[in-house]
Amino acid sequence: MKKYLVGIDIGTTGTKSVLFDTEGNTVASSTAEYPMSQPKNGWAEQSPADWWDAVCKTLREITPSAADGEICGIGLSGQMHSLVMLDKENEVIRPAILWCDQRTGEECAEIEAKIGRKRLIEITANPALTGFTASKIMWVKKHEPESFEKCAHILLAKDYIRFKLTGEYATDVSDASGMQLLDVAKRSWSLEICEALGIDMSMLATVYESPELTGRITEEASELTGLPVGACVAGGGGDNASAAIGTGVCKEGKAFTTIGTSGVVFAPTNTPVIDSEGRIHTFCAAVPGTWHVMGVTQAAGLSLNWFRRTVTPDANYRQIDDWCEKIPIGAEGLIYLPYLMGERTPILDPNARGVIFGLSALHTREHMARAVIEGVSYSLYSALELIDRVGVPVNDMSLCGGGAKSGLWRQMLSDVYATDIKIPESGEGAALGAAILGGCAAGIYSSVEEGCERAVRTKTTVLSNNANHEKYMKHYAVYSSLYPALSESFLKLSKI
Ligand code: XUL
Repeated sequence: MKKYLVGIDIGTTGTKSVLFDTEGNTVASSTAEYPMSQPKNGWAEQSPADWWDAVCKTLREITPSAADGEICGIGLSGQMHSLVMLDKENEVIRPAILWCDQRTGEECAEIEAKIGRKRLIEITANPALTGFTASKIMWVKKHEPESFEKCAHILLAKDYIRFKLTGEYATDVSDASGMQLLDVAKRSWSLEICEALGIDMSMLATVYESPELTGRITEEASELTGLPVGACVAGGGGDNASAAIGTGVCKEGKAFTTIGTSGVVFAPTNTPVIDSEGRIHTFCAAVPGTWHVMGVTQAAGLSLNWFRRTVTPDANYRQIDDWCEKIPIGAEGLIYLPYLMGERTPILDPNARGVIFGLSALHTREHMARAVIEGVSYSLYSALELIDRVGVPVNDMSLCGGGAKSGLWRQMLSDVYATDIKIPESGEGAALGAAILGGCAAGIYSSVEEGCERAVRTKTTVLSNNANHEKYMKHYAVYSSLYPALSESFLKLSKI
C-alpha cells in the first residue's frame, strides 16, 4: 500500500497542511488564514480556536488525496513562543500571546533580577527576551492573576493542536527551547528556573525529541480531520527547526534563511554555542543531540505585507517585484529599518520602531518598496554577521519561506550576503520538515538525516554578484549607523 506523510504548519498568517509521498513530493496542499489582533502598539494575539478550525479545514481538504494508500506519519510545526493557557477542563483561558508581542519588557527585567542574567543564560542559553514564552507567563501572572489561577496547562501553538489531535500534552525540544524554561544543554525542563519564576512544572508538557512518537490520532480528531485513527504524531518542531529539516539543513556547516512573517537566519551546531550578549538565540535543533543558533528579524514578510496593505493596496507582490527591478540598488538613498514590531537581532529592543530614512522629493512608492525589501535583507545580513562572529561555520546557504518565491528577493539576498543561495525544490519548508519528522516517528525513515536525503532536493542555485555586493555594503554601512543614532529617541517615544 502507498504510504503518505502529513506536515501541518501553524503559522502567523495562516495554517498550511500538506500531504507528501515518502520522497517529499507534494500530493495535496491547503492553506487557511486567520487574523492577528493588535489591541495595543506592540501587542499581538490570536485565538487558538482559529488555529484548530484552520487545521481541521485544511486537513479535510488534503486527506481525500490519500485514498489510495495510508497516512502513517504526521508532523507538527508552528510559530514559536506563542503562549496558550488551558484550564483543568482543557478550555482556552485567554487569547494566545504571540511570539511578536512586545509587552513584556518589565517582566524580562524581573526574570533577570530573580535568576541573574548569567545563570539564566547558563541554563536557558539566552537572556530574557520579550519574544519568549516565560516573560509572557509572568505578564499574565502579574496583570491577569485570575487567568493564571485557572491555568492547568501551558502549551505552544503546535502543541495545542497536538493536544486536539491526540489528547496528549507534549512538546519537542526545539520549540520548548523558546519558552526559556528549558535547560537547553540538557534538553529537559529546568526545575531551578520554574521554581524561581513560580511556575508549577506540572503545567508543562512532556518534552520529546522532534522525531519521537508523541501520540496517535484519536477517533474524535479523525472525524474532524479525515486523518486515520491511530496514525503517529511526531514531536515536530518550532517552525524554524522544522524548516531546517525541510531545506535539508541538518548538520553543522549548512544554514538557511527563511522569509516568512518573521525572517530567520539559522545555522546548526554540534554544541550549544552562545552569544554572550544574547543577540542571536541558541536552541535545541530537531536532529537529536544537536543545537542551532539563529537570528530573528521580527518584521520580514510582515514589513512588505504592511507596505502593500497600507501604501499600495492596489498592487500584488508580483507587481511590487517588477517596480523594484527598475529602481537602482540603494533606492537612490532611501533606507528602511524594519522595526514595525520592535526588533530582536541584533539590537534586542522592543521599543524600536520602523523608519524610512533619506526621503527626498524624487522618491516614489516604487523606491519605498525597494527600500523595504533592502532593509529586511540588511537586517538578515546582520544576523549572518553575528553567526560568523560567534564562530559557527556557514558554507552552504539555502532560502525558503514566502520571500523565496520572489526572484528579486533571492538575488538581492545572495548579493547582500555575498554567498550563492540554494532554493529547495519543495517550497513547503516547515511543512516538509514536519512531515519528515512524522516519517521518522512512523518508522519510514531510520533517522532525520535519512529523511532529508530522501525528501529534500535543490531546485536551483542563485549566484551572488560581487559588484552588487559592494554597492549594497555602502548602504548597509549607513543602515547600521541609524539604530545607534535613534535608540534614545525610540525610548523617549515609548514613554509618551
Ligand atoms: C522565532 C520566532 C519566529 C516565529 C514565527 O524565534 O519568534 O520566527 O517562530 O513563526
